[in-house]
Amino acid sequence: MERTFLMIKPDGVQRGLIGEIVSRFERKGLQLSAAKFMVISRELAERHYEEHKGKGFYDPLLDFITSGPVFAMVWQGDNVIALSRALIGKTDAIDALPGTIRSDFAVHTNFNLIHGSDSAENAEREIGIFFPQSEIVNYEHSIQKWI
Ligand code: RTP
Ligand code: MG
Repeated sequence: MERTFLMIKPDGVQRGLIGEIVSRFERKGLQLSAAKFMVISRELAERHYEEHKGKGFYDPLLDFITSGPVFAMVWQGDNVIALSRALIGKTDAIDALPGTIRSDFAVHTNFNLIHGSDSAENAEREIGIFFPQSEIVNYEHSIQKWI
């Protein structure tokens, strides 16, 4: 069983899409392990997006991600990293396949609604900076045997 870090960005929260987006992961059959509604500090944003430091979009990205509340989550399931990236769609909404979150609801790369970890290593790193172990809930998800 794999884990990933997903985060509805400030645009997704402001547009009232938390429920819509969370329901897509629930209906897929993935298991929610942790969630919190929060405003990200500049320091946390820098740690989260450290791989993009120095790129042209880095400073606007930090301004955007700290501009309002986000909904941060941990999900688990077989192949959850690749599956959640598939549900999210490509970074640029123009390239995102119809039926993906970014295709259905986003127009611009800068306002693409949701973050999803891109590797097992980054998933564990990102989970670690957003959630202490005590906030991650381990429980029996009874429908898993059907998924
Ligand atoms: P994310 O990390 O947010 O899940 O998005 P991603 O993997 O699809 O894209 P990534 O390359 O990691 O870029 C992180 C975020 O930076 C913004 N971005 N803007 N203007 C641009 O060319 C550009 N490129 C990236 C996007 O908000 C992207 O989600
Ligand atoms: Mg990324």
